[in-house]
Amino acid sequence: MNELVKILNIELPFIQGGMGNVSHASLAIAVSEAGGLGTIGAGTLPPKVIKEMIAEIRAKTNKPYAVNVPLSVQPHLEEVISLLIEYQVPVVSLSAGNPAPFIQPLKEAKSKVMCVVANHKQALKAEAAGADIIIAEGYEAAGINSTEELTTFTLIPKITSVVNIPVVAAGGIGNGKGFLAALALGAQGVQLGTRLIATQEANVHENYKAALCDAEFNDTVIVGRPYQKIRRILKTPYADKLIELEKQEMNKATHLKKTDETHHILGAIEGKLDQGHINAGQISSLIEDIPTVSELFNRMIQESTSTFKGISSFLPMNK
Ligand SMILES: Cc1cc2nc3c(=O)[nH]c(=O)nc-3n(C[C@H](O)[C@H](O)[C@H](O)COP(=O)(O)O)c2cc1C
Repeated sequence: MNELVKILNIELPFIQGGMGNVSHASLAIAVSEAGGLGTIGAGTLPPKVIKEMIAEIRAKTNKPYAVNVPLSVQPHLEEVISLLIEYQVPVVSLSAGNPAPFIQPLKEAKSKVMCVVANHKQALKAEAAGADIIIAEGYEAAGINSTEELTTFTLIPKITSVVNIPVVAAGGIGNGKGFLAALALGAQGVQLGTRLIATQEANVHENYKAALCDAEFNDTVIVGRPYQKIRRILKTPYADKLIELEKQEMNKATHLKKTDETHHILGAIEGKLDQGHINAGQISSLIEDIPTVSELFNRMIQESTSTFKGISSFLPMNK
């Protein structure tokens, strides 16, 4: 048992990433019940809806869970943080902004605090401000990414070499081999986004799940580079429209409008892949089916264990 699972009081070092419009209570409950850490995505939701989701998760599982707050995106930030403090949410993950002012108040309410970072400077700042856990996300990941566009493979060893708190790897992980590789790079666990969308418990449109299963190599694309708003989405008819508009030098305000929550809901929840975008990471090309969360986790444990046994004989010291 490593430090990460001890701090979070979970059985498996598998964390569900906060996913705006996707991390509803149902998926979070399935992840926590399967032994990982389920996460409610606060996204841009109003406090009332977040409160209802917390009530649902508390009613349906006794296992720990997290709430993710994307700081620069959540329009009712102070109110949401107060709500999490009031409910003594077991784990809070903070992303997309400066977490420092919120860490101590959350810890005083006995929450464990995880900070999502994209480089080692952010990791050091979060650790200095009292974070319990760092989630380091490479730009293989789905959704909004850092403008630095660092890969998970290089990010994790760098960050684990500079901080003294557990690090979780995110971005491009969705099977046992990826999990094992993350451990080899120094992470103590993994955060999954895209892979958990293609599960039976994910409350998204079937078209989204089918598109992930059909995705082939290099079927994701970055939009928003001209506006320093890096977002990885699946290549769909709507993604093609966005890329075409970028070529025609659409302005930043139009880009933000065309990638707003309304368009994400049209794609992800209503399944209209020509009218809205769907966030998807590079791991999409390795997704071929829609298991339950529990089946997925069992598979990841089995595959990482057998892969570990298989590769140990490759090490020169064993020759
Ligand atoms: C639909 C969707 C919405 C997301 N929204 C958020 C969010 O609100 N906050 C956040 O920190 N990360 C968000 N992410 C990123 C995930 O939490 C996770 O870190 C990422 O998907 C991991 O990479 P992967 O997709 O390669 O597994 C989102 C990802 C997806 C797929």
